[in-house]
Amino acid sequence: MSDTYILGIESSCDETAAAVVKNGRTILSNIISSQIDIHRRFGGVVPEIAGRNHLLAIMPVIDEALTSAGVSLRDIDAVAVTYGAGLIGCLLVGVSAAKALAYAINKPLIKVNHIQGHIAANFLQYEDLQPPFLALVASGGHTNIIHVKDYTVYENISGTMDDAIGEAFDKVARILGLPYPGGPEIDKRAKLASPTIRFCPNLKIRDDLSYSFSGLKTAVVNYVHNLKQKNLPLNVEEICASFSDEAVGYLVETFISTAKRTGINKLVLAGRVAANSCLRSKLSDICEKELFSLFIPRPILCTDNAAMIAARGYFSFEKGEDLAGLDLNAVSNL
Ligand code: KG4
Ligand code: ZN
Repeated sequence: MSDTYILGIESSCDETAAAVVKNGRTILSNIISSQIDIHRRFGGVVPEIAGRNHLLAIMPVIDEALTSAGVSLRDIDAVAVTYGAGLIGCLLVGVSAAKALAYAINKPLIKVNHIQGHIAANFLQYEDLQPPFLALVASGGHTNIIHVKDYTVYENISGTMDDAIGEAFDKVARILGLPYPGGPEIDKRAKLASPTIRFCPNLKIRDDLSYSFSGLKTAVVNYVHNLKQKNLPLNVEEICASFSDEAVGYLVETFISTAKRTGINKLVLAGRVAANSCLRSKLSDICEKELFSLFIPRPILCTDNAAMIAARGYFSFEKGEDLAGLDLNAVSNL
């Protein structure tokens, strides 16, 4: 059987990315152009500016992905692109580029859901990983538990009622005066102290296994405001350690409860918050204790990247699913 080469394209938020993946499992190139430095001064991603910068970066990034993979457009069997969820003006840049390329080389265009892409990052790292398994997607926009029944069959089990976990990290970081993106900043400082404060004593696993982070976030914000009003010093490291411990503890406990309730003992982590060291260690510890197998991608595969999009696209390509026409549109709230 001959090899299948998928060109992946991702532009849903603030990373312009392109990659070439062989047979859904082997990364030949994975080029990421990040705009974090551009948006940092605004304290968050500015959609309009992000869209314009994707436009500048997209073709050079695709060229680099092909060159560093050592393949030409003629070798590509299909083009896979993120069409949602994400910022509409950003998604449209990737979708338009993918359509033009697929048309030019007369090869199929495959539409990919960003969240499913994050999960598929695990297929790149673990070549023997097979569904079914339970995935926790933790990112700036999502906190979802998904039952991956097959390579292209994803069933959402639960999500967040309000903030995503990454969003809660970013908002707590902002109130503490830490730079954007706040997640990694909190992560760094959390390692320098012990979790001594309990912000939200009634934060418990919900009956329907859904998440809610807004109560915890508000409790931290109130705690900080209170100290500031009284002109008392803030122990930033202690707040970071306590918030991380509480947020991540709740995230992990709900995930493990879902695994027990559904009887699935193969667990997969995905999304950029999967880079969080407290999450990685808490989840690893509990999985070891409960004898669950656990898969966590290396940090570069947790970031928004196009190799994960190519991997997810490969499995659809194999089954003749998710084929899109030149009328494909971006869907921001997919
Ligand atoms: O994947 P991503 O760009 O968002 C979506 O696709 O929705 O993830 C970005 C989010 C930000 O909220 C950032 O603060 C968070 O991931 N993040 C982290 C860490 N690294 C990134 N949160 C906690 N700990 C980290 N080490
Ligand atoms: Zn993402």
